[in-house]
Amino acid sequence: MAKTLINTAVFPVAGRGTRFLPATKASPKEMLPVVDKPLIQYAVEEALAAGARKLVFVTGASKRAIEDHFDTDAELEQMLEEQGKAELAALVRVLPKYASCIYIRQPAPLGLGHAVLCAQPVVGNEPFFVHLADDLIDGTVPCLKQMATAYASKGASVLGVEEVPHSDTDKYGIVETRGTPTQISRIHGIVEKPKPANAPSNLAVVGRYVLTPEIFGHLEKIGKGAGGEIQLTDGIARLMKKQPVYAYRFQGKRYDCGSKLGYLQAQVEYGMNHAKLGGPFRQYLMELLAAGAVQSPEPAVTPSRRKKG
Ligand code: UTP
Repeated sequence: MAKTLINTAVFPVAGRGTRFLPATKASPKEMLPVVDKPLIQYAVEEALAAGARKLVFVTGASKRAIEDHFDTDAELEQMLEEQGKAELAALVRVLPKYASCIYIRQPAPLGLGHAVLCAQPVVGNEPFFVHLADDLIDGTVPCLKQMATAYASKGASVLGVEEVPHSDTDKYGIVETRGTPTQISRIHGIVEKPKPANAPSNLAVVGRYVLTPEIFGHLEKIGKGAGGEIQLTDGIARLMKKQPVYAYRFQGKRYDCGSKLGYLQAQVEYGMNHAKLGGPFRQYLMELLAAGAVQSPEPAVTPSRRKKG
């Protein structure tokens, strides 16, 4: 049985977030809030729940807001305490004392594989989590915690996967497994963004990984892959030839918050389930439905946008 505790979580946050322009022009997509918390805070909370204590952020241009978010803001805390707003002051303390943050700069957005490689000096020779904050996963057990358990049982790298529509295989890394589908299956092939006709399956890798440190040696050797980027998938394809890698079908619902539609879906569902806002928000949605405001998939034509004449 492998060592259960994984101490380090790597958060690559150096992408440009082009699918979410213009919101991501000057601020990182990982700072987009879902209800009242930025995506990166959900990510960090999930990693802490899985036992990680060392939080490594691979950052790029326009990412200062992430560092500021996890910094202590003593002045704001004191002001809120003095105003008798202890509840708000507690919300500002976003990190427990036992967690430490390390920020590493990816010099240019050369790809996810390159971003992970940038973390090598601080990860060292240990297994580690990789968490992509724009994949928000709502599970009864936090997804990385599920994956830590899977890692403990296999002692090998584990990739979070889910089935996607066949027509969408060219948006993901796609894995090949053999035999009857089970919750955890050995991977026999992996390919980045294959066209539906060439995809080995519709089992897509999402933004959750437990990787063994041997991945770094492979990432050093690969060149540009799909989309002209240094792809983590290509490093994993090499790793698989030396040691087993497993696909793990996680329990939970994923929202692709790197896309505008996925982000809107997350807002609505997290809003409906929010401890304080859920009640009034559901009420509002019911009123919209009752008023006939939610009807066809065609966008509503607001008076100001109506064509003249
Ligand atoms: P995406 O594929 O979502 O790319 O990256 P992106 O650039 O962030 O967004 P789009 O596609 O242009 O809209 C997946 C994850 O990998 C990180 C991103 O920050 C995101 O969390 N990433 C990607 C890096 O850290 N560095 C890179 O060079 C590329």
